[in-house]
Amino acid sequence: MRSAASFKGHPIHAMLIPFPIAFLVGAFFADLVGMIWAAEALWMAGGLLAIAGVVMGLVAAVPGTVDYFRTVPPDSTGKQRATRHALVNVGAVVLFVVGLWVRGGIDGPPSPLALVVWAVALVLLTMGGWMGGTLVYRNQIGVDHRYAGAGKWSETRKSSPSPVVARSDELDVDQMRLVHLDGRRIVLARTEDGYVAFDDRCPHRGGSLAGGAMMCGTVQCPWHGSQFTVRDGDVRAGPAADRVRTYQIREEDGEVRILTQA
Ligand code: FES
Repeated sequence: MRSAASFKGHPIHAMLIPFPIAFLVGAFFADLVGMIWAAEALWMAGGLLAIAGVVMGLVAAVPGTVDYFRTVPPDSTGKQRATRHALVNVGAVVLFVVGLWVRGGIDGPPSPLALVVWAVALVLLTMGGWMGGTLVYRNQIGVDHRYAGAGKWSETRKSSPSPVVARSDELDVDQMRLVHLDGRRIVLARTEDGYVAFDDRCPHRGGSLAGGAMMCGTVQCPWHGSQFTVRDGDVRAGPAADRVRTYQIREEDGEVRILTQA
């Protein structure tokens, strides 16, 4: 699924997260070594790195929040994982602030208690990073993996009653468009036989079919490979067991509409 917070197709959250991770890990080890060697310069560096890590963590959270609400498919296992990912990382940042307070600010000497708090924060940071990796490499959040010829990513927001969602010649054959229509996520797709529309949510675990691949009247979910016939929503290949809901299309005067009440 293409990231909603991206620069020329590159997800901004992924660009920013190395900074807080590097700064916060660096803060812990600078303080640890500074305490062992009684090196003031090192523990001052630890304090500054902790501040920089907290600030960059908050900055990285901005595009992450946009992706949480705009990119991760709702009502999916990926959404549950994204929620845990966010909570764990917020917990890590809060614990680094607590550790800073315990050690007496940026230039305060490191204390064993502050280091214990930061060690717990690093465990949370590692868990958050692990889940973030799963979100990218398994759930493909922010990964635009559509095959060549599928056309540009297309997404639009409309409201009823029966708005125009495309012109007849707007999409290429096998191209899909994610339509947000009255709170629903519906995929408008053009096949060799005309336009079709079906739910974006894969009934297996909630993957976004708009982020999958469509060819010869079949759409494949990007998460575990379930395949559905786009015209009637029938399952062609599992692991999904239930069909995808489809919608009627009205095409007249060069305009395409989705009939959600049908
Ligand atoms: S979510 Fe598992 S196949 Fe779609």
